Amino acid sequence: MTRGRFITLEGGEGVGKSTQARLLAEALEARGIQTVLTREPGGSEGAEAIRGLLLSGAADRWSVRAEALLFAAARADHAERTILPAVEAGKWVICDRFLDSSRAYQGVGGVLSDEDILTLHRIGSGGLLPDRTLLLALPLDESSERAGARDAGAVDRIGGRDAEFHRDVAESFRRFAAAEPARFRDIDASGSMETVRDRLLAALADWLR
Ligand SMILES: Nc1ncnc2c1ncn2[C@@H]1O[C@H](COP(=O)(O)OP(=O)(O)OP(=O)(O)O)[C@@H](O)[C@H]1O
Ligand SMILES: [Mg+2]
Repeated sequence: MTRGRFITLEGGEGVGKSTQARLLAEALEARGIQTVLTREPGGSEGAEAIRGLLLSGAADRWSVRAEALLFAAARADHAERTILPAVEAGKWVICDRFLDSSRAYQGVGGVLSDEDILTLHRIGSGGLLPDRTLLLALPLDESSERAGARDAGAVDRIGGRDAEFHRDVAESFRRFAAAEPARFRDIDASGSMETVRDRLLAALADWLR
């Protein structure tokens, strides 16, 4: 049995990750590739329960440290029970957000360093890295417009933070991509959903021949 592929979609709120994860999974299935579509936080029973704790409640419900530990715990369960078994069974796993979102979000504000978050990931998930990370980028005004239209004013704990926070997150993602060019592909997330999906497929073309 050949090993499958582990692909993550990353980027800030409203850039189209969930939309594209679904379109990409459909496009791969149409090519005869068995695909598992999953997301973070969540993607396994235990991790979905932790997701409920993370995304609901007051903005200050969790300290930065407690939040980072909850994300790492959710990811540990998700990796062990969903991602690794599927990849080992030859499937392609498409994951909507993963480690790099923890690095970008829990790393803002200077409480935890990138090294700290990578250490939690090593303890929780054996340092599992995606085979490829597709980083979707869109100007912040466009992504907040997309997210605003979707949520009609109702935002979750993390999406509700201010513009400076979202700028810092976008900058962190760009830094991670620049530091690991072999894993990351930059995707222009502007244009129609189909246009963006075709850019994602092009970023996987070396595996699709
Ligand atoms: N290419 C596109 N053009 C216009 N609208 C889009 C496009 N892609 C997605 N949208 C819409 O923008 C909104 C945000 O998309 P989506 O929920 O996929 O983003 P996301 O990156 O998953 O956001 P979040 O980080 O909040 O989960 C949705 O209403 C979606 O239908
Ligand atoms: Mg989403």
